[in-house]
Amino acid sequence: MDYGPAPESTKEANAWLDQHGRRFGLFIDNEWSEAADTFPSFNPADGSELAQVTQASNADVERAVAAARRAQPGWAAMGGNGRAKILYAIARLLQKHSRLFAVLETLDNGKTIRETRDADLPLASRHFYHHAGWARLQYEEFADYRAVGVVGQIVPWNFPLLMLAWKVAPALAAGNTIVFKPAEFTSLTALLFAEICKQAGVPPGVVNIVTGDGRVGEAIVNHPGIDKLAFTGSTEVGRLIRKATAGSGKKLSLELGGKSPFIVFDNADLDAAVEGLVDSIWFNQGQVCCAGSRLLVQESVYERFIEKVKARMQNLRVGSPLDKSNDIGALVDPVQQQRIAGLVESARAEGCEVWQPACDAPTAGSWYLPTLITGASTTATVSQTEIFGPVLVAMSFRTPGEAVQLANNTVYGLAACVWSESISLALDVAPQLKAGVVWINTANQFDAACGFGGYKESGFGREGGKEGMYEYLTPVAEDTRPAAPMVADKGKVKPIEDNPFEIDRTAKLYIGGKQARPDSGYSRAIMGANGEFLADVGEGNRKDIRNAVEAAHKASGWAKATAHLRAQVLYYIAENLAARGAEFTARIAAQTGAKNAEREVQASIERLFYWAAWADKYDGLAHQPPMHGITVALNEPVGVIGIICPNENPLLGFISLVAPALAMGNRVVAVPSQVAPLSATDLYQVLDTSDLPGGALNIVTGSADELARTLASHFDVDAVWRHDGSAEGCAEVERLSAESLKRTWTGGGKGRDWFNAQQACGRAVLYHATQVKNVWIPYGV
Ligand code: NAI
Repeated sequence: MDYGPAPESTKEANAWLDQHGRRFGLFIDNEWSEAADTFPSFNPADGSELAQVTQASNADVERAVAAARRAQPGWAAMGGNGRAKILYAIARLLQKHSRLFAVLETLDNGKTIRETRDADLPLASRHFYHHAGWARLQYEEFADYRAVGVVGQIVPWNFPLLMLAWKVAPALAAGNTIVFKPAEFTSLTALLFAEICKQAGVPPGVVNIVTGDGRVGEAIVNHPGIDKLAFTGSTEVGRLIRKATAGSGKKLSLELGGKSPFIVFDNADLDAAVEGLVDSIWFNQGQVCCAGSRLLVQESVYERFIEKVKARMQNLRVGSPLDKSNDIGALVDPVQQQRIAGLVESARAEGCEVWQPACDAPTAGSWYLPTLITGASTTATVSQTEIFGPVLVAMSFRTPGEAVQLANNTVYGLAACVWSESISLALDVAPQLKAGVVWINTANQFDAACGFGGYKESGFGREGGKEGMYEYLTPVAEDTRPAAPMVADKGKVKPIEDNPFEIDRTAKLYIGGKQARPDSGYSRAIMGANGEFLADVGEGNRKDIRNAVEAAHKASGWAKATAHLRAQVLYYIAENLAARGAEFTARIAAQTGAKNAEREVQASIERLFYWAAWADKYDGLAHQPPMHGITVALNEPVGVIGIICPNENPLLGFISLVAPALAMGNRVVAVPSQVAPLSATDLYQVLDTSDLPGGALNIVTGSADELARTLASHFDVDAVWRHDGSAEGCAEVERLSAESLKRTWTGGGKGRDWFNAQQACGRAVLYHATQVKNVWIPYGV
């Protein structure tokens, strides 16, 4: 028995295109510009031209940014309630015109109408409803924050309208104005959305839509009038954007590629897992950043499962995306088809087995049949590269440990699926997966209330939920940060042999819980406020940082230690510091000449108590999305953080950054104040007597610039914080971090008043010390 054709009508979508003469200008200040320098947008299912779209010029981007800047103060001043009403109106209008949007999306992108109608559209309007709520609650829930300003948003072609909703809704809710660029393959639903904005009462300049290719993206990225960039797309372009914005002070969130594992244990409900797999890798023809493209099946059920997968693949209906009973539509563009075909051919050439169901794809347009690859090695290109198509690579594992190891064997960390009927096993594996989202016994679930975003080279920042709102907000306290105090560098590097008699006054480095001589064999003389020689410290170099990072990685037990234990260790450090308060006071005074040295020691002790208090209280959230159960949003440590501490307040600055990082379970490689490092080196003994496990905190003294460079370039460092007031140094950290896409937190050329709790404490700091993992768990289903 077979289904008859069930085509969706394109009448309304075509009428809308005709109404615009099938030529589109840009939407700036609530006005359409004349179409100019246009390029075609095709229907990838048959190759026909749908419309001509404008390639925006630099001058157009300039106009859009100017309009957004003009509109921003008024939009923010409108208040959360006013904005909530408009977001609500957008949600309603999206619902009202949902079929028009769904058909237009299918025409422009090639994805099936079943998906645009049942997933993209309902989720897009849900996003606006949900964020209307956050706008309404802004004064209660984000009282200490303000809008960032003007945001540039650049999205890919795989979920044109949904990605727009993910970006536009939170930005508007928080009071930002927008310059938005859709992908060049799929601009049409964004242009239809522009009309919705006008109808909903969005004031001129608040949402501006500029179309075009990567050059338009670049112009937005580089525009000085943009305060924040939100990008979804390839890791390669994400990296370029990170480099281009380094040192600009622009806030950045990147949602990049993935190679997500789909793990099936032998005690899984195999039939349910097969259905989950269909959603995971064949949803949107596999053109999904979190697609479960690596199937890992426990050896004992591997053969059986693969047979079931093949049988199911045979039943997938490939054909016109407008047919309501088709499962697999067209790829977005022939260029993607060629890319996928090339990758599959490379697998064949490497001796992998390539299997496709016996069916035909349409001949016109860009198509690729669902494909299963077996026999690939873990290092094969198809096992490591994001294919971004309907291609699944399968392999087996024996033990849960091996499954975790295979799952994490990727530079990406966006999502993972775990299938097992044993809740103990699934919930044991979930925390071991380095991924921003873990779905248990389900796949590809999304909801506006639940954050989404990656670990490692899948990017940083979250979209959705409360955590997603912070990406579009700035702590008000940031506005009053002072210019960085200029602290003269009094350190001098001199060979040890020049100074043989001072050896007993040389502070070594602190690595793996032990004092270690610097690899260079050099030391740096630290002079006091009055110019007198105080002591030598080790001149750390690249090798010392490598050793420190290695020691930090070995101390992985710190991340798993209970929050209670971490708090206790911080309390001990505080106590031991208090016991030697006079000594530390004298040391600060000698180094900096500070009159308030005693106050600084007191504040440092209190700060340790403060962060110890937070250790077991920065709880995540439990979301209740409409489907599948609950989503537990957990604040996990980022991993190994390199911290370049401020020059001023050598003890308080050091503690203010290192303590929250440790409290959240991170391991730290700290570079203390370059000019006054002795307050940190004096801590070695305090640390030794405080039960801090060796390697959890490593201290390397020396040149801040050189050590920061090494930390930012190191592939096993997960984040770098730099707060020594060097604008150039901060920019360099951001630039170098692009290679491994590590997170950064830099102060730029601004300092912080480390005594001021508003600037040195609070959730804004914890945000940097953690990353959110969203675990979707069956509950009541
Ligand atoms: P892309 O990353 O080049 O494009 C995404 C968006 O960025 C588009 O709007 C594009 O115009 C813009 N863009 C391109 N270059 C830019 C630049 N230098 N500065 C600013 N914006 C720029 O992705 P593309 O070429 O469409 O797809 C290539 C591959 O990237 C895919 O095969 C897939 O592997 C991956 N990809 C991953 C996505 C994800 O969600 N993880 C989404 C799209 C693509």
